[in-house]
Amino acid sequence: MSSLAASDERTVISAAKAIQPAWVRLVHWINAVAMILMIMSGWQIYNASPLFSFNFSKSITLGGWLGGALLWHFAAMWLLMVNGMVYLALGLASGRFRKKLLPITPSGILSDARAALTGRLSHDDLSRYNYVQKMLYAGIIVVGIVIVLSGLSIWKPVQLQYLTALFGGYDVARYVHFTCMAAIVGFLIVHVALALLVPKSLRAMIIGR
Ligand code: HEM
Repeated sequence: MSSLAASDERTVISAAKAIQPAWVRLVHWINAVAMILMIMSGWQIYNASPLFSFNFSKSITLGGWLGGALLWHFAAMWLLMVNGMVYLALGLASGRFRKKLLPITPSGILSDARAALTGRLSHDDLSRYNYVQKMLYAGIIVVGIVIVLSGLSIWKPVQLQYLTALFGGYDVARYVHFTCMAAIVGFLIVHVALALLVPKSLRAMIIGR
């Protein structure tokens, strides 16, 4: 066998072995950066007109003031949206969502949650998500879609008035947008903690294996 053929074969074998394919890793980390920029600049925008009786500490916000935060928010918005659409298109077209995230059954979630809480959940096979992971990942993808749509409806409430109306109007859309942010921050805390608890899953999301 020529050395070129041998190296092709090695490439094929290592690609077949990847737990997280390169495109998933790339869109995942672009999404993580875009989400963090959106959240931190969003907190600064919120501070200019709070929905609740609290403000976010300036030390965890981005943009310095309302105008600066809006620039960050609208710049990162394109990154989040385009990257998210690539993830959805490839996830659907490649069958990844069907294979990795479905089916999700209540009994599966209950038994895997019980196993996790009693320390009996196996992490041996990283190529398969357990039911709690499937539920969280599918759930956060839906939240990601809703936060973008509610964001569009408060950004352009005149041009996209049908979308804004679908959320029950501008004011409700703001609460929906905020609630999705809170869900993403909650997800992120649990998600990062679990990734650190099972470091080989983090390694697979960085180098593929
Ligand atoms: C910035 C810190 C983050 C870290 C350290 C991190 C880490 C990871 C790791 C290690 C995995 C694979 C875990 C596994 O095998 O279960 C994963 C998958 C995933 N993460 Fe994150 N993540 C981060 C941010 C985010 C954010 C901000 C989101 C979305 C809001 C997100 C959504 C997802 C989804 C949906 C998957 C499954 C992807 C798929 O299989 O198609 N992650 N993440």
